[in-house]
Amino acid sequence: METNESVRKIAVFASGTGTNAENIIRYFQDVRCGIEVALVVCNKAGAGVIERATSLGVPVRVMAAAEIRNPEQMLAVLDEYEIELIVLAGFLLMVPDFILGRYAGRIINIHPSLLPKFGGKGMYGRHVHEAVVASGETETGITVHHVTDKCDEGGVIFQASVAVDPSDDAETVEAKVHGLERKHFARVIREFMEGI
Ligand code: GAR
Repeated sequence: METNESVRKIAVFASGTGTNAENIIRYFQDVRCGIEVALVVCNKAGAGVIERATSLGVPVRVMAAAEIRNPEQMLAVLDEYEIELIVLAGFLLMVPDFILGRYAGRIINIHPSLLPKFGGKGMYGRHVHEAVVASGETETGITVHHVTDKCDEGGVIFQASVAVDPSDDAETVEAKVHGLERKHFARVIREFMEGI
């Protein structure tokens, strides 16, 4: 039987609704592969992710941007939960340098397009899908990538694509992309963590 000490721990950082965080939590609760989501960090009071994670029994720390940017405070939280990997799932702040240093190669993000297309500052959530539709792209997708100090520019770990039909609007594209996130993200996290 697994002892609790042998379980490898992930922190999910999220700012919004939290469908990805919920999928990731459920996946690791179900597959029992020696990895768990031990903590959710959220920078927005009242965000949907707080209730989703809490109802699945995962501790949530709601922290203001200033607290997340405070090395002493933030690293103490990550240490308290023995976090080995940080997963950004709809997290809208840049990750501070001291976390990038401490967790070098162990912070990954999901972006809802095929990077390098439709990445960078201001490109998040629905804005991405609106830009995809406006540009007449025939496909879009998801990118799981390393997090660096440059927005959406870290090395790609995984991509999956889906067709954009001429009749699609931003909402239908968003639903397709959420489908890809649901299908792939947790498994990609598991494979990534098993490789480090
Ligand atoms: C997800 O689609 C994620 O890919 C995107 O925000 C959404 C969060 O949804 N992330 C970005 O746009 C990052 N630039 P969720 O809160 O329901 O998981």
